[in-house]
Amino acid sequence: MSTSNFIPVKTARLVVDEFRTSDFHRLQEIAFNINHNADEHAKDGYCPFYTFQVDKDTPDRDNVIRGKVSEFLIRAEKERKQEPRSTYRMAVRLPDGKLIGNVTVDMLPIDENGKKIYGDLGYFIDPKYGEHGYATEAVRGLVHHFFKQYPKLDITAHPANKFSRKLIERIGGKQVGYKEASHYGHGEPRAIFEVHKADFYRSSPFHQKMPNLLTVLVNHKAQNNRR
Ligand SMILES: CC(C)(COP(=O)(O)OP(=O)(O)OC[C@H]1O[C@@H](n2cnc3c(N)ncnc32)[C@H](O)[C@@H]1OP(=O)(O)O)[C@@H](O)C(=O)NCCC(=O)NCCS
Repeated sequence: MSTSNFIPVKTARLVVDEFRTSDFHRLQEIAFNINHNADEHAKDGYCPFYTFQVDKDTPDRDNVIRGKVSEFLIRAEKERKQEPRSTYRMAVRLPDGKLIGNVTVDMLPIDENGKKIYGDLGYFIDPKYGEHGYATEAVRGLVHHFFKQYPKLDITAHPANKFSRKLIERIGGKQVGYKEASHYGHGEPRAIFEVHKADFYRSSPFHQKMPNLLTVLVNHKAQNNRR
């Protein structure tokens, strides 16, 4: 794979960095886990990541899923060569290097029917590592870099995707609209959310532990600017 301009993001429990060719087998395992989890837990509000989603009755389903995993890694490699680079399709790993998920963010706006979409955030976590806060932690780590450039991030979720909706709300997102059909997956509907920079930082665990610190830092910066 080609060289990268991305400096790995380290959070308290994770490392967010580039995908590697050697991730294929582990990513395939995650894609199977996601599809099988959706087979069993769709009624609980679990939706598969559209990129790996293959209907249960598809002939030779496992091979179709494998094909999607290859496409995903090929896309990651192509995006890494973009000049300027827009899409950061990143691997989420434990500190020992084990791949457990993905976060993707676009650093350049996408034009959709004359409207600019910022960020177009996407993510998944291996269901075996779900509900430990890893997805939220990885998203926060990567999106922090996005907010150095933009004041607002756009994201959509399938209306039935309870876990994705919860994640979006956890990082300060609010629903602002609804689309009957979208370019995602099989043309499914989408709830449309926006995450504003101030809400993102207000919702961070750091801010919740030390709510006054942000105000102190902002005031300190303003005072320095006046000097
Ligand atoms: C969307 C998705 C990533 C959410 O995963 P998740 O496991 O719910 O999210 P997190 O990893 O952030 O875990 C959050 C949960 O862990 C809990 N948790 C447990 N231990 C925790 C810890 N030590 N620290 C933080 N949170 C912890 C949180 O309380 C939260 O549960 P709650 O919502 O009941 O309060 C996952 O459902 C998924 O991969 N789905 C398929 C792909 C998909 O739909 N992607 C979205 C399309 S864009």
